[in-house]
Amino acid sequence: MRGRAYAKINLTLEVTGKRPDGYHELVSIMQTVSLFDELSLTPSDDLSLQCDVSELAGDDNLVLRAARVLGRGGHFELRKGIPIAGGMGGGSSDAALALRLLDAAYDLRLPAGELLAAAASLGSDVPFFLCGGTALVEGRGERVTPLSPLPLRWLVVLNPGVPLPTPAVFHELRPPEYATAPSREFRRLVNTLEAPAERLEPAIGRCKQRLREAGAKEVLLSGSGPTVFALCSSEQEAEHVAAATRGRSARFVSRDEAIQTFH
Ligand code: C5P
Repeated sequence: MRGRAYAKINLTLEVTGKRPDGYHELVSIMQTVSLFDELSLTPSDDLSLQCDVSELAGDDNLVLRAARVLGRGGHFELRKGIPIAGGMGGGSSDAALALRLLDAAYDLRLPAGELLAAAASLGSDVPFFLCGGTALVEGRGERVTPLSPLPLRWLVVLNPGVPLPTPAVFHELRPPEYATAPSREFRRLVNTLEAPAERLEPAIGRCKQRLREAGAKEVLLSGSGPTVFALCSSEQEAEHVAAATRGRSARFVSRDEAIQTFH
């Protein structure tokens, strides 16, 4: 069995405060987009992972952790297409797809609540990827509400190619920067983590500038970064901006497309 694990962008990401458990409370509208990893599963008693990016094939890969959470074996093959550690949820999307592949391959028919709990135990972004499309994500990331699909948009993704660990960005965020009136519908691009991420990594500001110089109007950091994206008004504009910046163009991916059935 094989499937595609799509990337996400955060159209909004508003952090409203810090929780006693050290995580942050957030309100985010997430959208799956057309960059994807491919993951296949051959059921087996033992557990293994082969990946075209060999550094990612270690024991701590979220695909292997997903299999351990469900107590099942298998041979996984992962082909990466999503920028690694970029703020586009690649590892989290792989983990959610691994859960769905295992559920299907072993005919587990796990109740939605159990899959969601398994996903949340693997990482804050994983529950969203069980849903895909356009969704409102709240709490630490475990409360996911599907939203009506937004009109199809094209975008350009630019990855500065520098490491920027998520905990460091949350740590750099100051309480006066917390969002006080987060929006649960999409009005405009906003990301509370953009300012702290830019303070830590000036390459982010330079990437945003490159996108603007190529004509992009709506530019934002995705998640905790360092990937930035530009929402474009047409496919042609996206192709132009991608060529000028050497970024990658992509489009919104609907829930039906993101959560396909496997063969
Ligand atoms: O859940 P995950 O392992 O993806 O989170 C990585 C790190 O990001 C956490 O250790 C924490 O520092 C930060 N984080 C947070 N609040 C969230 C999600 C992530 O502080 N809601």
